[in-house]
Amino acid sequence: MRPVPAFFFVATAALAVESFALGQTTPAPPPVLTIDAGRVTARVSPTLYGLMTEEINYSYEGGLYGELIRNRIFRDDAREASHWSVVHDRNGIGAISLDESQPIPGTVLTKCVKLDASQASTGHRIGVANDGYWGIPVKPKTSYQASFYAKGDGSNSPLTVSVESNDGAKVFAKAQVPEINGQWRKYTTVLTTGDDVAPTASARFVISTEKPGRLWFNLVSLFPPTYNNRPNGNRMDIMQLLADMKPAFLRLPGGNFLEGDTVAERFPWKKTIGPLEQRPGHRGCWGYGASDGMGLLEFMEWCEDLGIQPVLAVYAGYSLKGEHVDPGAGLQPFVDDALDEIEYVTGGPSTKWGFERAKDGHPAPFRLAYVEIGNEDQFDRSHSYNRRFAQFYEAIKKKYPGLLCIATTCEKGIPWKPDVIDEHYYRNAWEMEGDATHYDAYDRKGPKVFVGEWATREGEPTTNLNAALGDAAWMTGMERNSDVVVLASYAPLFVNVNKGGMQWGSNLIGYDALNSYGSPSYYAQKMFNTYLGDSVISVTGVNIPTQAWQRPPAPKQVPTLFFVATRASGSGTIYLKVVNTAGFAQSVQFHLNGVRHVAPDGLSVVLTSAHPGDTNSITEPTKIMPVTSKISGLGTSFTHAFAPDSVNVLQLETQ
Ligand code: AHR
Repeated sequence: MRPVPAFFFVATAALAVESFALGQTTPAPPPVLTIDAGRVTARVSPTLYGLMTEEINYSYEGGLYGELIRNRIFRDDAREASHWSVVHDRNGIGAISLDESQPIPGTVLTKCVKLDASQASTGHRIGVANDGYWGIPVKPKTSYQASFYAKGDGSNSPLTVSVESNDGAKVFAKAQVPEINGQWRKYTTVLTTGDDVAPTASARFVISTEKPGRLWFNLVSLFPPTYNNRPNGNRMDIMQLLADMKPAFLRLPGGNFLEGDTVAERFPWKKTIGPLEQRPGHRGCWGYGASDGMGLLEFMEWCEDLGIQPVLAVYAGYSLKGEHVDPGAGLQPFVDDALDEIEYVTGGPSTKWGFERAKDGHPAPFRLAYVEIGNEDQFDRSHSYNRRFAQFYEAIKKKYPGLLCIATTCEKGIPWKPDVIDEHYYRNAWEMEGDATHYDAYDRKGPKVFVGEWATREGEPTTNLNAALGDAAWMTGMERNSDVVVLASYAPLFVNVNKGGMQWGSNLIGYDALNSYGSPSYYAQKMFNTYLGDSVISVTGVNIPTQAWQRPPAPKQVPTLFFVATRASGSGTIYLKVVNTAGFAQSVQFHLNGVRHVAPDGLSVVLTSAHPGDTNSITEPTKIMPVTSKISGLGTSFTHAFAPDSVNVLQLETQ
């Protein structure tokens, strides 16, 4: 949290009143904001606020991707079937082990789990259990789609599939599948919980038998209901949180996840498409494996479900641990791979990769406007990015002249001017607030800017109110300059809050197996995006109090009020955003020019809490939420008091 120095006010209404009473000083003049609705300073970029995603903090595995079974194809651990255990009731005796001698022909499913049920009989079952991603979420009146491949040694009775408590004492839902035979075959069934089931994540998924024998299982899957009922789809609650943000785009698939630790471990998009039986998964770069169930098509369908556009990042020959591919002939296969990827996304079904997409179930091409070439290539010590970028840029523009190319850095001498540059900012609240005017004097002749990753990093696993204040101050600057900043996306988007789920502190949305919630930063963004006009109008401030940020070598004075206003040209509605980072209320005088009339009644939306360190969590998911209320007494001049530590929107109806 931001340290608050003992005496940090240079001039504040509160301090001045007190001093005045003691007869020591004249009161500080109140802050005044003058809005000129007739002075449009920028058009608001229609793609300003979006989302950024990658596999980090169990974003898809145990997160957005609906799959509930962990290690479903037994590749997570070379030594054992991790997250799997043997279940034996009473006198049942059995064991499980990894088995590489039973591949499923024509698939990448080469490793499976073997169950040796040496002693089993009616009432004495033997089975395999999966503990999911920190539990299997059980909810009442819910149908789960279960599927798995199985084969037996010929002596097996019907199998029972169940979701049950971890000790097996309570069965929440179960189904039988017919007797299996000695050939691999896929089985599917539906498990439905009753109305009276209390939600819990203390549950496991079990496949069991009551007859001795040997059984093999692979690609074991369990899906809850998904958003828009998509097969292989996404968790409904998290998708709803995203939809509520009204984003314009999704940057995918990273981030570092695009790069991988090494060239060989980059995001292997061609192995993430097609049937799950053909997806081996890959290592990922955040300490755990990706099943790639969330593959390229699923990313696109995620965009489709939210009605937003993808910003597709293609691997550009640089990986996290410093490996790079030299520009020239060696890089060409990577360029070709990116062209294939773009064709998979945008090509008609008569193109090679458009045909593949159609085969995968989506004949209609997706709309794509932006392609990002690489990720954070400023870290490439070989300084090869200029030439790598040029090689990708030329090939992409040749085949897709309408696509806009985003560069991840802009080193001197870059042969082609990128359409857009991706800039990343991870900072504390002081730094965000101290730099909120960053883009005010930005070069308007250079490339446009994509703030592809940004966040005020305070509070974990999700951010606190103080971070939301820093975020909101920073957003006033991006919004004010959205002629230059055409896209912006916070990162990271997701975190699984269970122990071991987080690799990066300070995230936007938190969840466990059962529940999810938005951080104060989430709500600040939702406010900024919900209340947004199409034109930025001029706001000037005087008498803005400052506070001292104790930044070595010398303190820096940082304003305590941040503001931006946009207007919707059709309706004349003005959305005035004011962030009060002071720990006391501030009364601001407003003057509105350039309008004939301001309706006396309007709306106020306020995000605040008692302490800047306050936050939301799984147990208190809505502690900090925007509160909307009607306000009156508005006009071409009015005064409004902003709560301490608050993010505010005033909605004014004007003509
Ligand atoms: O958002 C976390 C990481 O930060 C991203 O993967 C990377 O691009 C940046 O360094």
